[in-house]
Parts: sequence; C-alpha cells; structure tokens
Amino acid sequence: MQLKSLHDVELKGKKVIARFDFNVPLSKTEPREITDTSRIDMAIPTIRLMLEKGVAKITMISHLGRPDGKVDPKYSLEPVAEYLAKKLGMDVILSESAIDNGVKNLLQLPETKLVLLENIRFLPGEEKNDMDLADKLATYGDVYINDAFGAAHRKHSSTFGINNYFKGRAYPGLLMKKEIDSLGALLEKPAKPFVAVIGGAKVSDKIKTIEKMLVLVDTLLIGGAMAYPFLKAKGITVGTSLCSDEDVSLAKQLLQADKGGKIQLPKDHITSLEFGGAPIPCAGQNIPSDQMGLDIGPITIKAYGDHLKTAKTIFWNGPMGLFENKNFAKGTMSIAEIIAGTNSFSVVGGGDSVAAVQQSGMAEKFSHVSSGGGASLEFIEKGELPGVQALKFGVY
Ligand code: 3PG
Ligand code: MG
Repeated sequence: MQLKSLHDVELKGKKVIARFDFNVPLSKTEPREITDTSRIDMAIPTIRLMLEKGVAKITMISHLGRPDGKVDPKYSLEPVAEYLAKKLGMDVILSESAIDNGVKNLLQLPETKLVLLENIRFLPGEEKNDMDLADKLATYGDVYINDAFGAAHRKHSSTFGINNYFKGRAYPGLLMKKEIDSLGALLEKPAKPFVAVIGGAKVSDKIKTIEKMLVLVDTLLIGGAMAYPFLKAKGITVGTSLCSDEDVSLAKQLLQADKGGKIQLPKDHITSLEFGGAPIPCAGQNIPSDQMGLDIGPITIKAYGDHLKTAKTIFWNGPMGLFENKNFAKGTMSIAEIIAGTNSFSVVGGGDSVAAVQQSGMAEKFSHVSSGGGASLEFIEKGELPGVQALKFGVY
C-alpha cells in the first residue's frame, strides 16, 4: 500500500497535530545550541506546505534525547522553538508541557498558528505507548500528520498509538514519504549493479543490515573499525585495532554465508601507534602488532572507487575510519566524493555517515540522505516500521 502524498490532502481550515523528529544534537555546555540543524531543516517543507494549504493551526510534537519520562531542562525543546521561529519567520509558541491545560487555551487562540509541545518524552506514558496520552494528543487536531521518520521504529504514543484516533485522517509528511520511497527503492528491484558500503564500529551493531545487504547487493565494501574483525577472521593480522572476539566470530559466519564472494575488505590502511596519534601509512593488508588501523588506505580507496563507479544503485552506512580526526578522514571523505560523482541512485543512511556527508559538503549530490539512524537500518532489515504501518493501516 502506497502512502498518500501530503500534496493531495485537503487541509484548509484544519487543526493539524503533527509529529516531527526534532531530536537534534545540542552543544554540551550552556548556552545550549543546536550543532546540526539538518533534521529540522528537512521538516521545514512539510510545515510550509501545510501553511500554504491554509491550515488553521499546527501543533507539533517531538522528542529530544532520552529524558526517561521525567522533566529535565537539559532536554527542553526551547532551542528548537527558537530555530523554527527564525527559519519560518513566524512566532512559535512552546507549551510548558505536552498535556497541560495551557495547551487547550493555546488551541483556542486564532492568532497562534504554530504551537510546539514541550518534549513528549518528559511524560512517562510516551515510550509505553500509553493510550490515554495518545487519546489526549489526538484531541489537539482534526488530522494527524507524521513526518518523524527518524522515530518511526518506535512504538510510542505519539508515533504509534495516536493513529488509532485518526482512521482515514492520518497522513505522512513530505519527509516521511521521501524516506519510505527512497529506502523502499533499495529493497524493490534496485538497478544493478547494486553496491553497498558499510562501515562504523561494530559488526554486532549491524549484523542484520549486513545479512540483508548480502541478499540485495552485488558487492559489499566493508570499511571502518568493522573491517578488522573480518580481516582477523581470515587470518590477517590486525595489531591493536578495535576487534572483539564476538565480532570476529560474527564476521566468520558472514564470510561463510557469502557464497558469491560479495564481501570486499580493505587492502591497505592508515594506522597509528595509539588512538588518534600520528598517522602511519600501512601499504599491506597485515597490520603490525604495535599499530591500530584507523582509516582505509589509498589502494583500498582506489579499489572501492572502481566498484562504486560501475554501480547503478549505492547504499552507504557508516564511516570508513576515524573521520572526526582529519588525519583519518581521507577514506570517508573520498568515498563521499566518489559516490557524489556517480550517476547512480545513491542513498546514505545512519547517523555518522550522514554527518560525514554533511561535513563533505556534498549532501545535495546524493539521491537521498536519510534523516533516520536506527530507523533507516531497521527499515532496510524489515521493509517496514511500526510507525509507518500504523499510518497505513491504523493500530488494532
Ligand atoms: C534517533 O535519533 O535515533 C531518533 O530521534 C529516535 O531516538 P531514540 O533512538 O532515542 O528513540
Ligand atoms: Mg536512535
């Protein structure tokens, strides 16, 4: 079942209750500032479209961080309200709580168009999918719009239960629809060759994604710390690189399952004597016993680049090295540049690789940069998410 486009939904004069994923990173120290506004920026077209369609009011729900059902000023949505107001050039009223009586009053005032409810995870019911909370939230709108793709893998009151009260009146936002359409295209008849690049820290974190990719792709390029357990499983020395026994045994299983020889591993490295220390080029696959691998080397970049240049579909998740440190960023940045230069259908998903693409300044050259971390990987594994299912079929 296809999700309806928000463009085709009649919203004139309607009160909308809308879920967004404004879970943005904030600076650790006061004043708390948003360090990456991408997730809010990606939701702006949905808000603008609703306004153009003549809605009476938009009441916005989001979480921020994991305050565990308790009020914690550190996780207030105040910086988000300020940023939204600046970006939209309109007043955004932040409610004191998502369910206080003040909200009802705000909803009666015709002059307030945009209300942002304070962090929904300040309430203990949210993560328990409490139906009383969902019921209460549902009274704020005639129509429910869910644009929170990044939280669609959560079965919470504002992402899941609330759908129960909007049968035939629940719709995806523009971002939600683009996410599902783009990630869905990877799963349904992707143009071949399909090449995936998987990096990041641990095999155990991404085992299900890797298993799924082995079914979908022609070639699977592995980089980042994730590569070392695979190399070790093949009897190659990895020195002092990050490499747990559990990951080595998972890598061994994956290599055995890879009958088609799809998995490609780094052929050379950039190492160091210590984490984040001076970089040392390591031209061979074996890493000396006193060194740890922290990036892929130039021979690997070239080899991976040759695979990527022939691809018609590319999925990328996870950095190729310690890219936050410029001495170990070349592998990740080169992969970003190579993918950006192809004519393929290219999708990047998952927190760190998205940050790397933003850092490379080439985000707009990708077909789709996912706003989801866990959500994008879970969608790829399962082909569905609870929040999306509920939007399509309701909650029963
Ligand atoms: C995310 O950042 O992954 C989403 O906003 C969901 O947050 P959560 O992982 O805390 O549920
Ligand atoms: Mg998460």
